[in-house]
Amino acid sequence: MTILVAGATGTVGRSLVRALVNRGQQVRALTRAPATADLPPGVEPVAGDLADPTTLADALDGVTAVHLIGFDGPRGAGGGAALDTGPELLRLAERAGVARVTLLQNGHSGPMEDAVQTGPLPWTVIAPVGFMANARQWAPAVRAGEPIREAFGETASALIHEDDIADVAAVALVEDGHAAQTYVLSGPEALTVPDQVRQLGEALGRTVGYVELTEEEAIADWRGQGFDQESIDFFLEMGRTTPWIGRTPLPTVERVTGRPARTFGQWAREHAPEFA
Ligand SMILES: NC(=O)c1ccc[n+]([C@@H]2O[C@H](COP(=O)([O-])OP(=O)(O)OC[C@H]3O[C@@H](n4cnc5c(N)ncnc54)[C@H](OP(=O)(O)O)[C@@H]3O)[C@@H](O)[C@H]2O)c1
Repeated sequence: MTILVAGATGTVGRSLVRALVNRGQQVRALTRAPATADLPPGVEPVAGDLADPTTLADALDGVTAVHLIGFDGPRGAGGGAALDTGPELLRLAERAGVARVTLLQNGHSGPMEDAVQTGPLPWTVIAPVGFMANARQWAPAVRAGEPIREAFGETASALIHEDDIADVAAVALVEDGHAAQTYVLSGPEALTVPDQVRQLGEALGRTVGYVELTEEEAIADWRGQGFDQESIDFFLEMGRTTPWIGRTPLPTVERVTGRPARTFGQWAREHAPEFA
């Protein structure tokens, strides 16, 4: 059995590759840049681009299960454009003998999710809320001894650890009983930005500062980082009123994996070296 993992060089994909290797699975890692993929020993890197299904013949050869990512929203990993190659990808996967598909949704339903859910293969959609790993964007400021600057700091989010997303996907790829399910995943507690900053400081053994930005300052900041208006509108919408689903700890991780979801404190301790 070989499992093809798309997004294998990304935050969730790296965790998923590790989780599958730990389960003794044969893993093939899809990337547009195999030479620099830096994957664990025993994992086979394979070149391919989800936006161009003609590049995927080698990647799919002999594969029994596939983990896909979708770029269906303004923050899509593909840089904004929705991935509309889903129907063709699934046809190729079916022809190659793939028996099971998981899709990491990116916060929006869209053409990739439609393609998976109406396609020919048994599917599981993994729909996480905001990632704990988004805190990495603060690492340069924290390393420089500067305060973290954010707007909407008091808006709480039930952020999720990338290893929990990966563990759920690994179960759905390897075990029976998860077909036609959409698993919405959140972490074990709803945290504000100051809560996260405090826990990051505890993990680092020093105080990390926090400055609350006004909406206008935040918009200027996002523009400076190159985000387009669609992305900025999305950030504003999320910041002003985080949807119920984004701030509610859900039992899904524990139900699927049999163990509680990891805390932000754990994430901060594991990733402290990146902030030091
Ligand atoms: N951050 C959040 O709070 C959040 C919440 C919910 C969902 N999500 C979604 O979760 C997904 C994964 O996020 P992540 O943070 O793990 O990813 P990431 O670290 O941003 O990495 C992106 C991955 O996508 C791959 N990729 C991009 N374009 C590709 C293409 N055309 N063909 C094949 N692979 C391509 C890249 O592979 P190569 O560069 O090696 O080719 C890389 O492995 C994203 O869709 C994201 O929008 C994020």
